[in-house]
Amino acid sequence: MEVLIHTTATEGAQVVADVVERAVRSGPAVLGLATGSSPLLAYRELIRRHREEGLSFAAVDAYLLDEYVGLPAGHPEFYREVIRRELTDHLDMRSVHAPDGTHPDPPAAAAAYERSLPSVGVQILGIGANGHVGFNEPGSSLTSGTRVKTLTRRTREDNARFFADDVDQVPRHVITQGLGTIGRAGHLLLTATGEHKAAAVAAAVEGPLTASCPASILQWHPHVTIVLDDAAASQLERADFYRETADRKPAWAR
Ligand code: GLP
Repeated sequence: MEVLIHTTATEGAQVVADVVERAVRSGPAVLGLATGSSPLLAYRELIRRHREEGLSFAAVDAYLLDEYVGLPAGHPEFYREVIRRELTDHLDMRSVHAPDGTHPDPPAAAAAYERSLPSVGVQILGIGANGHVGFNEPGSSLTSGTRVKTLTRRTREDNARFFADDVDQVPRHVITQGLGTIGRAGHLLLTATGEHKAAAVAAAVEGPLTASCPASILQWHPHVTIVLDDAAASQLERADFYRETADRKPAWAR
C-alpha cells in the first residue's frame, strides 16, 4: 500500500490524474469510476488534459461503483447522471456503464451488473466518513458481490447536501459493487481530502482488517495507492514514514 500525502487537494488530484493517464495511454483500458466529491478535482484535471493535451479516452470503457435505487428515471442525482455531468460528457470515452437503479427488480439488476463487469484496471475510490467504499456500509461482507444495500442514517445525512439538504429525499437503497468485486480490480486508487475523513482514513489504512471499516479491505489488496491531503492524513500514526518514503523514492521505484 502506498500512501501519498499532499499539502493541498489540488496536488493530490494531479497524482490521481497521472495514474489514470498512464493506464489510458497504455492501451485499451477498463476504468472504475467513483462518484461523490472526492475525485472531482481529478476528473476536472482529466478533462483539461483531454482538451489541452489530447489525452484520448476512445479506447476506455468505464464502470461505476454504485447507484441509487428508486429515484424517478432521469433524476439528476442518479450517479449515472452525475458522472455524465462531471466527467464523461466532456471526454470521448467509448462507453460508460452503471447499475440500473430504475429496474423494477433491483436484486436482478445488481446480479446482471456483476455478470457484466469485465476485469477493471484502475478503480478510483472515495471513502465515506464511516469507512464505506462504494456503498458498502460497515458490516458488509468482505467477499461480497454486487448487490442491493440499505444506507445508514449517517451516509444519508452526509449525502443530503445533494438533495436540497433534506435527508428524507435521499434514497434508502442502493446497488453497489461488493467488497469482493472491488478487490478484483488491478489497482485500487483511493482519494480523500479534509479533516472529516481523517478518522475513516486512519481506520482503513492502520486499523484492523474488519467489516466494521469496509475500506480496510484495501489492506488485503496487492496494489493500492492512497492519495490524501494533510487534513485527511492528520490521524495517521505513520504519516511521517509515508512522507519520507515518498520524498526519498529512488528513480527505479517511480
Ligand atoms: C458516497 C459514494 C462513494 C463515495 C463516498 C464519499 O456515498 N457512494 O462512492 O466515495 O460516499 O463521498 P464524497 O467523496 O462525496 O465524500
